[in-house]
Amino acid sequence: MEIIIQPDATSASQLAARLVAKVIKEKPHAVLGFATGRTPLKLYQNLIILCQEGNLDFSGVTTFTLDEYVGISNDHPASFHAYMWNNLFHHINLPKERINMVNGQAKDIVSYCRQYETAIKTAGGIDLQILGIGRNGHIGFNEPSSSLASRTRIKTLTDDTRLDLAADFGGLENVPNHVITMGLGTIMESKMILLLAFGKNKANAIARAIEGPVTAMVPASILQMHPRAVFILDPEAASELSLASYYKWVYANKPDWQKY
Ligand code: F6R
Repeated sequence: MEIIIQPDATSASQLAARLVAKVIKEKPHAVLGFATGRTPLKLYQNLIILCQEGNLDFSGVTTFTLDEYVGISNDHPASFHAYMWNNLFHHINLPKERINMVNGQAKDIVSYCRQYETAIKTAGGIDLQILGIGRNGHIGFNEPSSSLASRTRIKTLTDDTRLDLAADFGGLENVPNHVITMGLGTIMESKMILLLAFGKNKANAIARAIEGPVTAMVPASILQMHPRAVFILDPEAASELSLASYYKWVYANKPDWQKY
């Protein structure tokens, strides 16, 4: 695992954008997996700037999103469809036909999830998967107790996660109970993982994910088993890591060719 602690969320997001840009420059037909939520917003703003200034070309890129609410229409303002179009896809030169998003309105969810998995494989697998993390350690919407080998499927949100989403839906009572999410096994097949976390309320989940035991009770801890998982954190999210000063020293002393 590579743990990079930046002075703040702004510089962390700029670094994350450089990492994403590097992947696309090295492989113009890269397959990217995108997360939604508050955390990657600044990263997406940086990618938009790079693209609009002519420094990043999404024309060959294929994308998959991690998850979607079950039963929510694509144009619902809190849907992940709306989020991705508003915060990224409308503003970059990514061809529509290469955008794959989970359909929360699929009639036959079981066969739909199988098709989504097949589409990822047919595209050649995900080169870089961007992730946030829930306060309870979830990635995607793989809530605690998710199988570490799980595939794309329907999941039930925990009360904690629904509370965190209440503002997006104008109240807890409107937050869906069910989502479709890529599984932990699906995420682990990505060639590279970039997890972003900012703020004090992520500190405990980050410490358990990076330095705790690998356990289904902290789904992000499975990333300890991934050969190329990069965590980019601000100081608050890193504040419960026992080896924080070691991680900072490692990054500060990396050879330039290894930096993003
Ligand atoms: C979003 C997703 C979630 C979020 C996580 C953190 O597509 O899968 O795992 O990344 O809930 O959300 P924020 O960034 O809003 O704190």
